Amino acid sequence: RRNAAARRLVHTAIEGPTFCFDIDGVLKQGQHVLPQAKAVMEILSGNNPLNKKYPFICVTNGGQSSVPEDSGGHKSVETLKTAATDRCRLFSGGSLESERCQRLSKELGVDIGEHQIVQSHTIFRSLVPKYADKPVFIVGGNSDKCRRVAEEYGFKHAYIPADVLAWKPAIWPYHKLTEKEWSYAKQADLSTISFAAVLVFHDSRDWGRDLQLVVDLVRSDSGVFGTVKDPKDASQWTPEKQLPVHFSNPDLLWGNEFNVSRFGQGALQESMAAVYKLTTGYELQRHTGGKPTKATYDYASSLLASQIDHAKTGAPITLHPSPDKIGRVPGRVYMVGDNPASDIAGANNYGWESILVQTGVFRGSRPEEAEHKPTVVARDVLEGIKWALKREG
Ligand code: G3P
Ligand code: MG
Repeated sequence: RRNAAARRLVHTAIEGPTFCFDIDGVLKQGQHVLPQAKAVMEILSGNNPLNKKYPFICVTNGGQSSVPEDSGGHKSVETLKTAATDRCRLFSGGSLESERCQRLSKELGVDIGEHQIVQSHTIFRSLVPKYADKPVFIVGGNSDKCRRVAEEYGFKHAYIPADVLAWKPAIWPYHKLTEKEWSYAKQADLSTISFAAVLVFHDSRDWGRDLQLVVDLVRSDSGVFGTVKDPKDASQWTPEKQLPVHFSNPDLLWGNEFNVSRFGQGALQESMAAVYKLTTGYELQRHTGGKPTKATYDYASSLLASQIDHAKTGAPITLHPSPDKIGRVPGRVYMVGDNPASDIAGANNYGWESILVQTGVFRGSRPEEAEHKPTVVARDVLEGIKWALKREG
């Protein structure tokens, strides 16, 4: 009997179910960590009737750490100023996976490893072989953190909007670089640099500036700022000739603590495409990663499969997708998300179960009300996980 029990424990540990969590609107609402999320982490860590640990991964279309929650109450002006500076520093966009998992571990009270997180810009790692030695234009955040992430990934020649404004302030005359921005702006003659691609990280903090600069670059001759392709020469405007533009996610909307959904990178993407079309007459060709794209689910499934292999055989955990693991997670995978167009559409297309919660973008109550119908609607992540575990028996 003891052997049978042991076999059962081992069996359940490696055959699933496994879980994939969206972050914003599921585990967190803006800066606020949902208490239900902490309870879920306890359950998955072994505090359950089977004493079983359930493998999980967090897949977000976001890309920055957030600041600790405001404790409320009266505060002095000094405290408010410090909090604002912290907020700017930490909420400035562009987190490495290693930093993000540390903060998430603190917030949720469990150890979350780098192999358990896929962020909006994580998939840009797969572009490194193509652009490692070429100049790329990085959009995102309000500091140089996205450049730092890009460089850490392996892009050796990463430029950001501050570099462009340092070179020619008149290119976007509505913002004067601050002392801080001057400190990290690269001093370069951009008229001599031919960009190979634009990478839009999570998430632009100055849509006007970034829209102007990206459209400038896509209309330019050979990716050089300050030049424009001949509008009469149609051969220069074919989709194949267009400078590649990679967006890290297509989220039109996302959910935070405000009661109405907020505009995300998808809205910026549509604005850029509309202005490009109006100024050139051509459609903007774009590559988009993040949920709900297959590329991001491939990435996540490979990391999950590697986690399970590690538990089963002690094989090393991989941080990069490997072809033999993509789509190979044993047992059922439950995706818990708040955004039907992102989390649920992606999970359904990938053959995963989907749990749609009511703590974010989706505010309906029945699966049929969602534009992409989930397996089930749950009040919150805790109710969703309890439902899944009961279903699995
Ligand atoms: O697109 C905005 C981003 O914050 C959404 O994050 O975690 O809901 O995928 P998430
Ligand atoms: Mg979400």
